[in-house]
Amino acid sequence: MKLHIQKDRVHGRRSPMIYGHFIEHFHRQIYGGIYDPESPFADEDGFRTDVLEAMRRIKVPILRWPGGCFVSAYHWKEGVGHQRIPMFDKAWRVEDPNTFGTDEFVKLCRKLDCEPYICTNAGTGTAEEMSDWVEYCNLVSEGRYARWRRQNGFPEPHSVTYWSIGNENYGFWELGAKSAAEWGRLVKESAKMIKHVDPTTQLSAAALPDVDWNVNLLKHAGDILDWISIHGYWDRLAQENDLASYEQCMVYTENVTRSVEEVHGLLQAMQLDGSIKIAFDEWNLRGWHHPNVHTSRQGTTAAEYLEPRDKNDENWQYTMADAVFTACFLNGMHRQCHIVGMANFAPVVNTRGCIFTHPDGLVLRSTYHVFELYVQQLGDEVLDHWLQDPPTMIMEDKEGRAAAVQLIDAVATRHSEDGCLAVALVNKHPSDAQTIVLNVDQDADSLVLFTINGASKDAYNDVDRQDVTMRQQELGSYRRGMSVTLEPHSVNVLRWQ
Ligand code: AHR
Repeated sequence: MKLHIQKDRVHGRRSPMIYGHFIEHFHRQIYGGIYDPESPFADEDGFRTDVLEAMRRIKVPILRWPGGCFVSAYHWKEGVGHQRIPMFDKAWRVEDPNTFGTDEFVKLCRKLDCEPYICTNAGTGTAEEMSDWVEYCNLVSEGRYARWRRQNGFPEPHSVTYWSIGNENYGFWELGAKSAAEWGRLVKESAKMIKHVDPTTQLSAAALPDVDWNVNLLKHAGDILDWISIHGYWDRLAQENDLASYEQCMVYTENVTRSVEEVHGLLQAMQLDGSIKIAFDEWNLRGWHHPNVHTSRQGTTAAEYLEPRDKNDENWQYTMADAVFTACFLNGMHRQCHIVGMANFAPVVNTRGCIFTHPDGLVLRSTYHVFELYVQQLGDEVLDHWLQDPPTMIMEDKEGRAAAVQLIDAVATRHSEDGCLAVALVNKHPSDAQTIVLNVDQDADSLVLFTINGASKDAYNDVDRQDVTMRQQELGSYRRGMSVTLEPHSVNVLRWQ
């Protein structure tokens, strides 16, 4: 098998925002996760300094908040000011203390040096409530909401550029769900009011690979939107926490960009692909486990619907399957960089996140190492590349259907600032190494191989074990036609120094 790279043919430049993240008011993501004033790690604002440091290392470029389903009955005004009244969170059926609100979120983003991205309530909320939120964040001092921010101790605007109108309002599970016809109108009027408050905002709206939904949305609001938001979870675990096996997860890696291609096709058909980009603003291999919430038969006891959520936090679940899938997804976003401008891992802390917090420290799960390797080593320019004679292997998905899985997933990049090449190479094979011949005309004195792997395909990290690590190996000088051997179930980056 050969990897051919045309180093002088640039396919596109990927936005750093494809390495974005998401955090929701769910379980221990905010309270007890990133915001834990009682923790010995807490700083003066109650944020866990060890979590902040871990997020800085993966250079989080943008952070989406506060939901997710949570947001569709959330009223932002209850979460600012000196009097915070606890609310009953109707989405997840718990009390939210409201001690983490807009000001705390913006403060967090400033500490992380990342862009805040606020998702508004288009479930029970109104266009006016959304635009009031923008007044609060972005006007200097005009009107009651900007004045209120100043009274709350923030004389300077928060300058929040990225806003999403709604979450998954297309879904029966979402509070305040909408029909396609209703959605187009609501988005248009909300976007109009928001842009009247601050024309520099960049607006997204909830979408999905559904023609009727998106045609209606884009007919009404295509002229005012900057982004269209889609979500993807492949291993659906909401009701039963029956995780897909390594091989079943490899089948999922074959379609990580299908929804992007479908939405892109529609944008092209409506001649909007020049003005609207895709924000894949919730994605993860594993769906979140939260049984009995989106049904009329939901439980009434903690044991029925609250305690099962703790299962998301069990670290043994996040293996090399999660790392390999995450690498394949990010590779796909590189290949789609002409239309995908943002992607947000869901979530970043706890639940299915890449960082797990416990009272004495953190567990950096297998997916964390993929983000760290990619943001530190891959370039910003995506080069033309293709695999000659790529091997495939028949594997079965969770429904027992056979699928041909391409064993090697590669993306070639270049650092625009110094011209160095960096190639991501994933070996999906569950047990066998794969050797690949490199055909690129770029001699170098030093070729370095970075590898993320564990002792087996099911390796994972936990409080008392560090099975999945990132290793570095100097391969010496590079000459055209050199070959490299990739370990089974491994994520790799080759860097031409
Ligand atoms: O399972 C978590 C939920 O997944 C998020 O709140 C929602 O946006 C998505 O459906």
